[in-house]
Amino acid sequence: MPMTAPPTIALVGPGAIGTTVAAALHEADRTPALFGRTAHDHLELRFEGGRIRVPGPVRTDPADIETTFDLVFVAVKTTQVEAASKWLSALCSEKTVACVLQNGVEQKTLFAPYLSRDQVLPSAVWFPAQRESDASVWLRAKPKLTLPDTPAARIVLAALRDTRCSVEVTEDFTSAAWRKLLQNAVAGLMVLTGRRAGMYSRSDIETLSIAYLNEVIQEIVDAFKCAPAELGTSILADRQARRPLEWDTRNGVIQRCGQAHGIPSPVSDLIVPLLAAASDGPG
Ligand SMILES: NC(=O)c1ccc[n+]([C@@H]2O[C@H](COP(=O)([O-])OP(=O)(O)OC[C@H]3O[C@@H](n4cnc5c(N)ncnc54)[C@H](OP(=O)(O)O)[C@@H]3O)[C@@H](O)[C@H]2O)c1
Repeated sequence: MPMTAPPTIALVGPGAIGTTVAAALHEADRTPALFGRTAHDHLELRFEGGRIRVPGPVRTDPADIETTFDLVFVAVKTTQVEAASKWLSALCSEKTVACVLQNGVEQKTLFAPYLSRDQVLPSAVWFPAQRESDASVWLRAKPKLTLPDTPAARIVLAALRDTRCSVEVTEDFTSAAWRKLLQNAVAGLMVLTGRRAGMYSRSDIETLSIAYLNEVIQEIVDAFKCAPAELGTSILADRQARRPLEWDTRNGVIQRCGQAHGIPSPVSDLIVPLLAAASDGPG
């Protein structure tokens, strides 16, 4: 029987999420080629009980790329997609699957200017990871991804099989992605207070969170109440570092969908402009 060559794998955006997936692949001898904005000679993932060093380099010039890849993980922020699109044209052929490791529910639309819809495989990313000042990444829970049950998902299932990053597929990916989005939306309140998960133990914040979600989402608020008080969120880390925020993909989308369907969203109408101004100014 002919041997099938293992898929070639690249990763664009080796930040908190990208480093975690790169480390999981590296541990299974499937080290991806790394491409990013900032050069590094290696990546480092730290977690309870150990650390993984992923050999680089992280390459920063698309002109250096000689070949396309079977699978490209894209883990830049949603605010960085346009700037990172030069990598997509260099790394992807029409057969490449681009697995988008981002929050939000609009990945196919976001990547439509650069890739065909069938190539774009969205994911729900269920683990918190944060970049540390020494350029390592601190992984704070067991990595897990959910993908839509489509043919494109098979290459990701194969690439991450038997690694520390588990992958599940679901026929109802829309519900999974919206569930994660609602979690992200409530996490946006941390930006407005500059506080971490501990603030959800306040009853007034719980009331506000429930009003914001306005659905059967007590479960999500309960999860925040039980989280370690010092647990943050990537949008809070971005705010504290005065970087642009993913406010539109994480919070604005609820307001936009409400407007499209004629559903009032008074809490969004208050929160979204405050997040947008925190991100984009002026002032
Ligand atoms: N962190 C979490 O816990 C978490 C959990 C679930 C989902 N998410 C989602 O996952 C996505 C990635 O978040 P993250 O926290 O991993 O972000 P991150 O740590 O900021 O990583 C983004 C990476 O992309 C790189 N990058 C920026 N612009 C680029 C460009 N033009 N070309 C190539 N690389 C570029 C950054 O480089 P620099 O080093 O130069 O900044 C960085 O390595 C976001 O949508 C986020 O909402 C995050």
